[in-house]
Amino acid sequence: MSSANATLRIQDQEITLPLIVGSEGECAIDIRHLRDQTGTISYDDGYGNTGSCQSTITFIDGDRGILRYRGYPIEQLAEHSNFLEVAYLLIHGELPPPSHLRRFRQLVLGNAAIQQSMLHHFSGFPNNSHPMAMLSAMVNSLGCFYPQLASNDRSRELAQFEEAACILISKVRTLAAMSYRMKRDKPFIHPKTNVSYCSNFLHMMFSEPYADYVAREEVDRALNLILLLHADHEQNCSTSTVRMVASGGANLFASTAAGICALWGPAHGGANQAVLEMLQTIHDDGDDGTKFIEAAKSGDKQKRLMGFGHRVYKNYDPRAKILKKQCEDVLDALGLNDPLLDIALRLEEAALREDYFLSRKLYPNVDFYSGIIMRAIGIPVDMFTVMFAIGRMPGWLAHWKELAQAKSPIHRPRQIYTGHPARDFVPVENRPDP
Ligand code: SDX
Repeated sequence: MSSANATLRIQDQEITLPLIVGSEGECAIDIRHLRDQTGTISYDDGYGNTGSCQSTITFIDGDRGILRYRGYPIEQLAEHSNFLEVAYLLIHGELPPPSHLRRFRQLVLGNAAIQQSMLHHFSGFPNNSHPMAMLSAMVNSLGCFYPQLASNDRSRELAQFEEAACILISKVRTLAAMSYRMKRDKPFIHPKTNVSYCSNFLHMMFSEPYADYVAREEVDRALNLILLLHADHEQNCSTSTVRMVASGGANLFASTAAGICALWGPAHGGANQAVLEMLQTIHDDGDDGTKFIEAAKSGDKQKRLMGFGHRVYKNYDPRAKILKKQCEDVLDALGLNDPLLDIALRLEEAALREDYFLSRKLYPNVDFYSGIIMRAIGIPVDMFTVMFAIGRMPGWLAHWKELAQAKSPIHRPRQIYTGHPARDFVPVENRPDP
């Protein structure tokens, strides 16, 4: 959507640049010809003010705490939908008719098993390997078993997109469970064919050869909600990475494996693990959170209140609101009393009385409460970011498809060079030793 113009004056040159206005009124200056017209580029370290694309998938209003997948408010999807239906919605753009949902579910649930020769990859990882390292490696390797789906021939890949997408949505879960088992030197548990997406994952995680784990309905529902709430979030770091890698023509397996790597960092998807470790430290120190909050106000990036703050939300993350309520429901349903939830609630209350957090609009984000639910389900902390990756897979796939269909150009940002001016080579014998 386009309308009106912006006028830009650079020294004695004045140019007009078109404005692009989105369906929710967001406005962008189209600077695609800025350098051609003026010889200058824009600068936006971290891209906080830069739109990389036009997208129809997810809408976020950070000031009002709004999140919608394909126009549907996250609150309604959380209450009435489920992870696989939302995955279909994100990928196809519409809620599925019953027959389409059945077919999609069958495609996903029927693709849970892993090729026998993939099992050997796991034996190559050291026992202390982080599950995210294993997951990204295994997702990329998966493409080797589907050369026809990982051909880097874009038109072929788009023609077979749904098959590849269902394989990835299904098998990322199996690979995750296998990385959990491998780390604990446990035998792999094969998927079942007659249980739900989440229950099958928990079966592959927690069953034993001699004793099946059967997920309680409340647990299946809680995990479904966590995955659904993580399914997409527009141009976050990992999704932008998927789009960056896809823009070079790379296939779905390589692009989503890159997304997993980007998600791993503690400033992004690794925050849920960091939140639990933070709450456990506060608990073990017998601190009521005051000491931690004081340290977080120092501005030291290493002492931040993990699970707080967001590049886009300058209000309460709507997902955090839903998860905070879900925490209490899940713990009640399971008859658990987790002291870390009490600490988290106290920490939030204390922080949101502090001008430091309020003045910077730092509120709980999706990671602040999600870990408490995963811990209640029995998922260990080192698997928290893996759960985020399983949830985000449909979003990555939807963005890969949107970029592929739009025939977007390769992503290649510019820079402002601030290094040495031209200088001549000095042979090593002429260089002074310090
Ligand atoms: C996710 O992008 C997405 O959509 C991501 C995500 C998704 O679904 O994909 O929503 C998932 O990644 C959520 C965020 C998880 N990360 C954390 O919880 C880690 C803790 N949060 C921060 O690192 C930080 O808030 C970020 C990275 C999330 C956002 O950082 P910004 O927007 O770049 O903010 P900034 O680093 O410029 O900080 C602005 C100010 C600074 O203080 P001043 O320099 O102004 O004095 O706020 C302070 C920061 O020091 N600040 C914090 C803080 N976060 C920012 N101070 C204490 N604790 C914090 N958590």
